[in-house]
Amino acid sequence: MSNLSQWQPWWLIIPAAGFGQRMGADQPKQYLTLDSRSVLEVTLSRFIGLPGLQGAVLALAPDDALAPALLANFKDFPLHYAVGGATRSASVRAALRTVQQHCLNDQTLVLVHDAARPCVRRADIEALLTGAFAAKDGALLATPVRDTLKQANTYHTVQATVPRAGVYHALTPQAFACGLLAHALDFAEQTGCALTDDSSAIELLGKAPQLVLGHADNIKITHPDDLPLARLILQAQGQWHPAQAPLVG
Ligand code: C5P
Repeated sequence: MSNLSQWQPWWLIIPAAGFGQRMGADQPKQYLTLDSRSVLEVTLSRFIGLPGLQGAVLALAPDDALAPALLANFKDFPLHYAVGGATRSASVRAALRTVQQHCLNDQTLVLVHDAARPCVRRADIEALLTGAFAAKDGALLATPVRDTLKQANTYHTVQATVPRAGVYHALTPQAFACGLLAHALDFAEQTGCALTDDSSAIELLGKAPQLVLGHADNIKITHPDDLPLARLILQAQGQWHPAQAPLVG
């Protein structure tokens, strides 16, 4: 289905319960500022106004009281909060329980997007939604690997060059039917599999999510260098509004 106005209802989950140790900052990375706004506000604003969006659930750290105050101005769709877990997957699973309380249809599509990815393009979210509504096992944004890949050994020297043909970086958002994702995350937890994205859980069930081409500027803010890079990307995308008041949803 490519006509945006024909999209079925869908929900958004934003895991935001991590601290981001690798940033070395004194606060979680989603609260670092990009322009006049926090990373989290910019990320959420990317989804404002998309047809079919029923509500969003943010998974927050148990002691996080900042997000509800910060996001009080987002009024375009209901915002809910869930207490995140010790891992990203546990946080997504907790948020999914909140979605399931509001939406009883297991087939409803849920998009999961990292709080730390504020530069995702609106057109890429639309492409992902279009792909996911047409796919059997869900879909994820991805970009082809560009650089040559090296496998390191324990001495930090090259053990092998890894063929890069057909290899992709998995980005977010990733979109799956609500019931399938819940089952997949439960299965991964029972089998003790550590996951770094949601597609991996679906793959564990023997399913094959659709890769939808996204753009490499959809970076995940991970290291200190990524914050100025994200500012440059937003500037290049025409999304840089330093004088603007916080965006009201
Ligand atoms: O640590 P990483 O960069 O992979 O985190 C990706 C996203 O998952 C971030 O938005 C982070 O806040 C979230 N996360 C979470 N709960 C955790 C760990 C990470 O919601 N326990």
